[in-house]
Order: sequence, then C-alpha cells, then structure tokens
Amino acid sequence: MNNIKVLIVDDEEPFRRLLKNELSRKGFITDTAEDGNVALDKITSSDYDVVLLDIVMPELDGLEFLRKLRPDPSSPSVIVLTGRATIDTAVEAMKQGAFDYLTKPYRLEELVVVINKAFEQRKLIKEHRFLKDELSKRELPDRFIGRSPHIKEILSLIEKISPTDSTVLIEGESGTGKELIARYIWQLSKRNSKPLIALNSSTLSEHLIESELFGHEKGAFTNAFQVKHGLVEIADGGTLFLDEIGDMPLQVQAKLLRFLDSGEFRRVGSNKTLMADVRIIAATNKTLELEVERGSFREDLFYRLNVIRIHIPPLRDRKEDILPLAEYFLEKYSRKLSKKVHTLHSVVKERFLEYHWPGNVRELENVIERGVILCDTEELGPEHISIPEIPHSASKKPLLSLDELEREYILQVLKHTQWNQTQASRILGIDRKTLYLKLKRYGLKK
Ligand SMILES: Nc1ncnc2c1ncn2[C@@H]1O[C@H](COP(=O)(O)OP(=O)(O)OP(=O)(O)O)[C@@H](O)[C@H]1O
Ligand SMILES: [Mg+2]
Repeated sequence: MNNIKVLIVDDEEPFRRLLKNELSRKGFITDTAEDGNVALDKITSSDYDVVLLDIVMPELDGLEFLRKLRPDPSSPSVIVLTGRATIDTAVEAMKQGAFDYLTKPYRLEELVVVINKAFEQRKLIKEHRFLKDELSKRELPDRFIGRSPHIKEILSLIEKISPTDSTVLIEGESGTGKELIARYIWQLSKRNSKPLIALNSSTLSEHLIESELFGHEKGAFTNAFQVKHGLVEIADGGTLFLDEIGDMPLQVQAKLLRFLDSGEFRRVGSNKTLMADVRIIAATNKTLELEVERGSFREDLFYRLNVIRIHIPPLRDRKEDILPLAEYFLEKYSRKLSKKVHTLHSVVKERFLEYHWPGNVRELENVIERGVILCDTEELGPEHISIPEIPHSASKKPLLSLDELEREYILQVLKHTQWNQTQASRILGIDRKTLYLKLKRYGLKK
C-alpha cells in the first residue's frame, strides 16, 4: 500500500467501479463520488491527496467543481479524466488549477504515474509553504561561533551524528544557542532538502500541542472545521524540532513516545493509525532528570530521547567564547545597520569577560546590537554598552541562595532600565511573560 488517497468523481457507476478496483489493486486507498457536489462534501470531511475528475456530470460538473475547490495546499490535487475532451475544456481545467489532464480510455500505467506525481507535487507545495514561513523568520543562516573546548567538542560531535537519523537532545540555559545547534545539525544531515519544522511546547496550550503535532479530524473538537495535517505528517521524510520539550504535557508525551518507537500516530478525533518517518531534534532549558523526578516528564520518553545528548554550557563557563562572539556580532550588526564599528575598546572587553551573562549569547548579542546603534565611531566604547553592574551583595556574600541572587539581579536590571520591562526582559534574555511571573514570585514592584 502506498497510502495515497484517491477520490474518483464520475457520474457513470461502472466506470467508477472499474477504476476503483484497478487503483485499489495498485495499492491506492480509493473512494468514489457520483458528482461534483458529493465530491466537495467528501473532501471537507475527509482528506484526499488526489481527485480524479470527470468533466461532464449532471449536477455540479468538473469545471464548476474546480472553481469551488479552495486554492489551498490542503486541498487535493486534481487530475481531469474525461472522455469528451476538447482542447478548450482542457485549457480551462488547467487554468482552474487542475494538475494534469488525461483522456478516456486511460492507460492504467500512465494514470498511476500521474497520480504519484500529483501526490509528490502536493507534498512539495505543503513543505514549501512551511519553508517560506521559516525563511521569512530568519535572514542569512547564522554561523556557529566558539573556540572553547566545550564548543569544539560539541562541533565535532555534531559532525559525527548529523548524517545519522538518531534522535538528539539539546540542553542549555536560555540563550545558549540550542536552536542554532538544532539548525546546524539539520543542515549537515541527509534530510536537509526537506525543511526543519519546529514546534515550541512552551507557547501552546496542551490541547493545541497535540493537534499541531499529530493533526486532527474534522469535528474532533469545536472549531475543528477542517481536517488538519499534523507537523509529523508535514515533516515526513524530514526533521522535526521539538523546542522546550520539557514543557510538553504528559498526555502528549505518551503519544510522542509511541511515535518515536513505531513511527505511528493518530490524528485527534481519529482511530486510524498513520505513519511518518521523522527525525526528532529536541531542546530544553530544563534539566529533564529533575523533571522526571518531579513527575512532570516521563522517564521512558526521557531515555528514548537521550540517545545523543548535547549540553551547551552557559556563556560564563566558557569565557574563551565571549570575545569571538562579541566580534562576530559587531561585524553582523555593523553590516546590518550600515555602520563601521569594527573594534572593541579594551575596557569593554574587560567588562564583557567579568560579566556573568545570565541571558547568555542572546544577551551578548542584544548588548552589541544596541551598542552599534549608539556608536558613531569605529570603536565600541564603555559608553555604548549597558550591562548592569554585578550586584555587590552577590560578589561579597557568596552564600546568597540562587533565588536571592536572581531577585537581586532582576531588581538591578529593572533599576537600570527605569522599570522598562520590555528592555529588562531583553537584557535578561527571557520573555516578558517569564519576567512578569518572576516579578510576581519575588514580590517585586516599582
Ligand atoms: N555560538 C554561537 N554563535 C553565533 N551565534 C550564537 C551562538 N549561540 C547563540 N547564538 C545566537 O544567540 C541567539 C540565541 O540563540 P538561540 O535562540 O539558539 O538560543 P536558545 O538556547 O534556543 O534560547 P531559548 O532557550 O531562549 O530558546 C540567537 O540569535 C543565536 O543566533
Ligand atoms: Mg530556543
């Protein structure tokens, strides 16, 4: 079986039956409709890849059907298959978005080839849409900078494991470059001709995560007006990046585990098992062992993900990387902002090396970007950079608890930004919601 779902639309019953039999024998999943209206109904309630369409039919004919079909990658590809062919109808059908045009009597082998092509094309269009979305989010591919032993080790590991299909787990604090590493692995992989498709578990509700990941049937829940393809289907043959996997709800974790073990999944609201071949790269800023102990992460899933583990240390633990990164960002933002800032003042270098970088590389990047905006000379000086002074109490009293330190530090940053929370969250390298939660937790108010 090839899992391609074909809907045969023709008003002549014997023809439908013949074609259905022939195509089923060739491994297609087939269904039939006797005219355009019935076909449109069937399409909204099920999910066909290809429609074989007759043109002359009593109720809604083929051309009208094509006009009513949504010009959307989620609609099936249409192959017109008709006896009374004229050049005009052929041209018209192609204009209305038909994929190809064959005349009856058809040659089965030829028809099978065209169906397969139509199926492949539809898959490509769907992937292309994702790729475009992804590309518009990013500009040039970023380079991965670092010369510390940690990073060198990570890079050589990546070169070894990227061409394999094994699951990768990337850990690191916020802003350490987990997503960049995921993209790098994907670029070096055999699957790089297909897009890297991402799902972030921390930004979606439990119920949305499952339907994003595995799709849903029409009517699976309120507002499920259409069949939705899950990301595992869209990523079939490619790679899926599961960001913030530590935030994935337990119920979805169970389904993910099943998928990882067998490649099998079900859309929400369906009891039909589907298959997809997907490489998983997962990332988290949590320590999954602790989440396992706490009961918020499945132990079996943890072991299943933990095949190849890449831990990116915080920037403060790999000080050798600070200046190369700073210089890299200096060039990047000079180019982007059409400036000529090429060097770092020695005081800036010193302060960068001393600083704790709680927001890691992202914080460094933000500091440099802002500096380049402010700087009108060739050298970035201390007056252009705004990293908060390290709280004195913290350096004098090493017995401060982690929470106290965090509270103290957040307070410093807020004072520094005159309580501008957007700016503060950028410096801290966390999002505004996280900052808000921390303010509440520590009882911090202006
Ligand atoms: N080694 C590096 N070389 C160049 N740029 C880097 C490096 N590490 C991180 N960056 C840059 O720092 C920023 C943050 O990196 P990224 O988004 O990959 O972090 P993350 O670990 O996924 O963070 P979060 O946990 O907040 O999602 C990005 O702009 C990324 O390009
Ligand atoms: Mg990330």
